[in-house]
Amino acid sequence: MARTLLYFAHPGQRQSHANWAMAQAARPIDGVTFVDLYADYPRYNIDIDREQARLRAHSVIVFQFPLFWYSPPALVKEWLDLVLEPGFAYGEGGTALVGKTLMLAITAASPAEAYGPDGFQKFPIRDFLRPLEQTAALCQMRFTPPYLLFGALDAQTHGSIPPHVAGYRALLTALRDDRYDFDAAAGHDVITCDALPLRAEG
Ligand SMILES: Cc1cc2nc3c(=O)[nH]c(=O)nc-3n(C[C@H](O)[C@H](O)[C@H](O)COP(=O)(O)O)c2cc1C
Repeated sequence: MARTLLYFAHPGQRQSHANWAMAQAARPIDGVTFVDLYADYPRYNIDIDREQARLRAHSVIVFQFPLFWYSPPALVKEWLDLVLEPGFAYGEGGTALVGKTLMLAITAASPAEAYGPDGFQKFPIRDFLRPLEQTAALCQMRFTPPYLLFGALDAQTHGSIPPHVAGYRALLTALRDDRYDFDAAAGHDVITCDALPLRAEG
């Protein structure tokens, strides 16, 4: 059983539909340690020792957040800057994260077709995530393609939140139970709820 650490990072939860629903579904899953990052650190006073201990105790690390200006919300960046210290995450003696998995669960307002050379966002969404992908690589972690909800602002009217949330629950459960097919996932830019790379239950 893979121990999963889920960081939920949304600074405006009162206005959230998609991430809030995802968080409510994820929080009670057995074997998933759920952390509401903005609730833990409203003043950005990140406890580095606590976070490093959390990382050591888990093998799969998930960051769930809305895409803000092509990036994670600011507290995630602060967390990365402070927690991934040399000697812990990289550099001499920095082997704490070797072999662990990093997954992102992201919601974005723009539709999938906007993210590409012909769309108004011009670049594939994975291009905007390269800093996180390379952060994982530097820490010798496996970066697995992100779980994505595009069109997140219209998702409520279009009825796309419930299937996305159900997919999220299935994905987190499969990660926990070692039924997530990382090889199949690696063939995709992003993972969506209609094509989850899961192996059948035992
Ligand atoms: C400050 C800010 C920046 C945003 N930047 C982007 C962006 O770069 N790309 C995008 O597709 N959506 C962007 N959005 C839309 C959010 O990603 C969207 O509101 C969110 O994913 C909806 O999820 P929620 O219902 O959980 O809040 C932005 C929203 C805000 C408030």
